[in-house]
Amino acid sequence: MAVAADPLDLSAPELVTDPYPTYAGLRAKGGPQYSEQWDVWLVPGYDHCQQVFSSAVNRDSLGQPYLRMLQAEVRRGAGSWRVPEAPALPEGYEDQRAAGRRVNGRALSTEFVDTLWPGFAASCRETAAALAGRGGPVDLVGDYAKPVVTGLLAGLMGVSPQELPVFSAWVDSGYEQDLDEERRRVVAMDIRRLFAQRAVDRLREPKDDFLGYLAANPMREDVKRHLESVLGAALMISMVPHQGLVLSFSTLANALLTRPDQYALLRKESDLVPRAVEEGLRYDSSTQALGRLVREEATIGAARVPAGSLLVLMVGSANRDERQWPDAATFDVTREQRSASRHLGFGHGATSCLGAAMSRKALTYMLAALVEAVAEWAPAGPAEAFPEFMTRGFTALPAELRRP
Ligand code: HEM
Repeated sequence: MAVAADPLDLSAPELVTDPYPTYAGLRAKGGPQYSEQWDVWLVPGYDHCQQVFSSAVNRDSLGQPYLRMLQAEVRRGAGSWRVPEAPALPEGYEDQRAAGRRVNGRALSTEFVDTLWPGFAASCRETAAALAGRGGPVDLVGDYAKPVVTGLLAGLMGVSPQELPVFSAWVDSGYEQDLDEERRRVVAMDIRRLFAQRAVDRLREPKDDFLGYLAANPMREDVKRHLESVLGAALMISMVPHQGLVLSFSTLANALLTRPDQYALLRKESDLVPRAVEEGLRYDSSTQALGRLVREEATIGAARVPAGSLLVLMVGSANRDERQWPDAATFDVTREQRSASRHLGFGHGATSCLGAAMSRKALTYMLAALVEAVAEWAPAGPAEAFPEFMTRGFTALPAELRRP
């Protein structure tokens, strides 16, 4: 008996180098497709991803750790995988999650966050001008995106200049997949110590900053558990957003490097920068795949997906869905911003990114500073791709810059 070919080999190198032709093939086949090899349901279409994001029972992001597990297995060279049986949700899980989300959301929209922008804008302008004046190739990720984003998030976390090496080692370790285990342990211990001390300081002496807000609101039943939750939030809201910002910037810069006509449009009309940012987030999103565990059997399109399944919401594919955007495969900085912003790069609905507004603003400052300082640019060597199918972007992006 002929066995149908598996819809997608998650270990295929093109999923890291250029996944879009593969995605187009999956979308052409229609609704969710089961992969026997990896025991996951692939959801490549925009509408079906939206349906899952909106489902009260199946929208939860608990599938993310499972998808990360699968990602690690693929990197290890495994040829197949089975999804583990998911534990039942602890009682009160939904309420606790919603409460945590509310606290993080408010902490990210305090006036304190607004105080970070003048310094960040200046740091982008200074760094961009220095790179443009340097002569010779620069790395738009290592020399630009990483240091300015580290500065922004260090400011958010109240990290002092003396503490910056500990913070930098922590965020940098997120890009170093082959980092020695002992070194990774030390880096994690140092940052835990720093954030834990900072949280205790804020409890003793309240301060109107991000960690101060997290420490003050709302106090959990026992102090130890409360401090652990503040620490967890601080660790998460430094490393993961760092990668989100740096890798999103890298794909946007890469799109512009390979489309000089689009860069020229930005130089002529800098008001287009926010549109270019949105289009970059849609066209080549750093978020490529999000995992969702099916808690209750679901009908998605023509497929009946059993409880216990792992759905792979293929955000990178959904963002190129031709039924949502005309010429979806074209990078167009003049695309209407509201149309581009329907992309799913920040997720959607009750689990969507709480840093979306902050990210849009940060990426806009980062690109605007370069557009001001650099008349023309071109690739100056091969880019290094982040080695995951879940997350896309470049860890090195060499470019030749020409001053005005
Ligand atoms: C361009 C950069 C970024 C991208 C692409 C991005 C992407 C995402 C995505 C896709 C999710 C949803 C995950 C899921 O549904 O499973 C998410 C969640 C989240 N993001 Fe971001 N993010 C970015 C930057 C940031 C920043 C700068 C912050 C804060 C400083 C942040 C804070 C959060 C938080 C707290 C959540 C969890 C939301 C919840 O608890 O429901 N993100 N992000």
